[in-house]
Amino acid sequence: MTVKSTPADIQVPARDIRFDLAIAKNGHWLGGDPVGTAVFNALSLTFPEGERMFMDAVKNYRKDLTGKLAEDVRGFIAQEAIHSREHHQLNLLVDRERYPVSEIEALVKVRTDEARSRGPMAMLMATIALEHFTAMMADVHADNVSLFDGVSPELERLWRWHAMEETEHKGVAFDVFMHATRHWSPLRRYARRVIAMALITYMFTANITTYAARLLEADGYSPKAARKAVKNYVWRNPGIFSKGWRTYFSWYRPGFHPWDHDNRALIARWKEDFMTPKAATGA
Ligand SMILES: [Fe+2]
Ligand SMILES: [Fe+2]
Repeated sequence: MTVKSTPADIQVPARDIRFDLAIAKNGHWLGGDPVGTAVFNALSLTFPEGERMFMDAVKNYRKDLTGKLAEDVRGFIAQEAIHSREHHQLNLLVDRERYPVSEIEALVKVRTDEARSRGPMAMLMATIALEHFTAMMADVHADNVSLFDGVSPELERLWRWHAMEETEHKGVAFDVFMHATRHWSPLRRYARRVIAMALITYMFTANITTYAARLLEADGYSPKAARKAVKNYVWRNPGIFSKGWRTYFSWYRPGFHPWDHDNRALIARWKEDFMTPKAATGA
């Protein structure tokens, strides 16, 4: 049986970039849209703790890795550490007097602690499922760059850099999982990862909806109107979750690997113009 893995020509380099995000202090940084801002702030609030959990999940299995996978794991950990750092900076700029930021951070911590308490394999399974989500959202981002119209160039760069690196390393935790479970039968592996994805799909989408709705309530929306607006944003217009359905469902194919969807060309394109902030954002 051929073992699929991250392509040999995909490197996972750490780019130690610091973004000047001060403009996010002004409030609705996503083109003045309170709903979009709440959804992306909710995502950002999950990243520091979530990505630390991902790093620890692969660290638990790194000791007997060699060659390219060991190198990719080093890159994965370094990339996620820098993502955590930069999103923490963004999170510090959200007005804590106005928005229930600490409350959301505490809820995220409860979730990641739960995942940690279930042991190394459960952590790794949660990680590969959530990495599939971030890779899916990176695809949606690439296909819908207009989502970030009206966003200041530095903030637009932050999200595009994150999306690019999530694409670059989308197969790394999965490769670690395949290595760690190499003695499992294909059926066992398939069943476990399908169950993990079903649970993570429910929890991740429900949690992001709850966090974003709590943020919107602080903007004066009623609880009901806030949930409705957030659900509309993530599932319908623009549909940042639903637009990625094709990528999402590929997970349920037996023998799936994140690089079955080969978007190396996208990474090459993003890398090329990465250092150039998007022109004419109209911000
Ligand atoms: Fe990340
Ligand atoms: Fe990631």
